[in-house]
Parts: sequence; C-alpha cells; structure tokens
Amino acid sequence: MSDPADKLGYGSIRLDRTGQAEAFDAIGDRYDEAFPHKEGQVASAEWLIRSLTAGSRVLDLGCGTGVPTARQLAEEGLQVVGVDLSDRMVALAHQHVPTGEFHQSDIADLRPGGPRDLGRFDAVTAFFSLLMLPRAEIPLALQTIHHLLIPGGLFALSMVEADVDDFSIPFIGKTIRVSGYLRDELREVVEAAGFEIVEESSYTYAPATVDVPPEVQIFLRCRRRA
Ligand SMILES: C[S@@+](CC[C@H](N)C(=O)[O-])C[C@H]1O[C@@H](n2cnc3c(N)ncnc32)[C@H](O)[C@@H]1O
Repeated sequence: MSDPADKLGYGSIRLDRTGQAEAFDAIGDRYDEAFPHKEGQVASAEWLIRSLTAGSRVLDLGCGTGVPTARQLAEEGLQVVGVDLSDRMVALAHQHVPTGEFHQSDIADLRPGGPRDLGRFDAVTAFFSLLMLPRAEIPLALQTIHHLLIPGGLFALSMVEADVDDFSIPFIGKTIRVSGYLRDELREVVEAAGFEIVEESSYTYAPATVDVPPEVQIFLRCRRRA
C-alpha cells in the first residue's frame, strides 16, 4: 500500500536495498584506503565553508566514514548532521567526527512526510551516495534534498559519469549496485529537481585498488531555487 504521506512518488516504487548496507558495513575503513585522493570533494566542501556562516547546519547524505567531508565541515565550525544506510559507516563517522550528529537512515526516509524528520538545512552534500540508488529514485532523492534545504540553500553533489542503471559492480571485495548519467543528462535531472547549477568540475580518478576501475567524477555546486 502506498504511504499516504508520500508526496514525491516513492509509493509507486519498491525500494530494494539488498546487499547495499551489508557491503558498506563490510568495507568500513578500507573505503578510505581505496579512495585516498579526494581533491574534488575537498574543494566542493571548501566552497560550502566559504559560502556559509559559522554555525550553519549542513547535512552530509551518505556520509560514509565521515572523512573527509563531515570532519572538514565540522572543523570549520559548521553544524554537521550525517546520515548513512550502513551502521558501520555511522559508527566510524561518530568516531572520526565527535562533534557531528550521525544517524543510520535511508535517504528515502528523509522524504517529505517520511519517517525521519531532521529539520531544514543551509546546505546538503551528497558525495557519491546518490549513485547507490536506482535511477528511478535519483530524481526523488534530489526532490527530497530540495525539500530539506532552505530557499537559496546550497547543494554539493558528486557522481561518477556513467550511463548505467542499478548495475552490479565489484567494489573493494564486495558487489554493489550503482547508477549514473552522462553529463548532460545529469545536469537536466538536477535542474528539473529545482536547482541552479552554479559551478561544475570533473576529475579522472584512479582509485588505489585494482578491483575498482578508473572513473570520471563530476562535481556540481548548486543552489536551491526558491
Ligand atoms: C561511495 S560511499 C561515499 C561515502 C562518502 N560520501 C564519501 O564520499 O566518502 C556511499 C555511501 O552511501 C551510503 N548509502 C548507500 N545507499 C544509501 C541510502 N539509500 N541511504 C543512505 N546512505 C546510503 C553507503 O553506505 C556509503 O557509505
């Protein structure tokens, strides 16, 4: 039965998280070893830090281990709330960023009228977390982010450029399912959810592990339209 509070359309799709949290529970700290260079991510968080005043609330969606993003934001005096599907990632984020607030939660639970209400934020980051969703859910997650932001609020997104939907890949000894878009389509999907893209950059990235292929990472700096 569809959720009567579902204002976005989540009711019409079946959420399948099989194996996703388990994979990240198992990967844990090895994630940071496999992805040691995060210049693009660090630069995007610096943009938020420059643009926000101390004490601003920032949501780190799919926060992983809390490193580097939640830690970087917290060290600069921002009030960080992190959410992740994986219990293990949430525990690591707590350890790495003691001043942050972290919750084990699904992005979908934050939808308007959904079971987890964390209030509104001045900014949201989603670094390589929306790519863990099937394509049918990505526009809904973006609309959820729009809802979680104050008007004019900032949104820093990164995705891997790839024309795939819910595609299984080997990842640090586990299998995960990922989705992505080619660049023009990604821009369209983000703009359709009510964001203005104010800056864009991309990086070719070779992870420090042989079972993750090189990838092109796209970073979008966005602002919520009123
Ligand atoms: C590739 S990692 C990125 C972690 C971190 N943002 C970073 O860039 O270092 C993706 C994270 O998204 C989390 N995740 C996957 N599906 C999710 C969902 N439906 N809701 C919340 N978090 C999710 C995973 O547990 C994992 O920690």
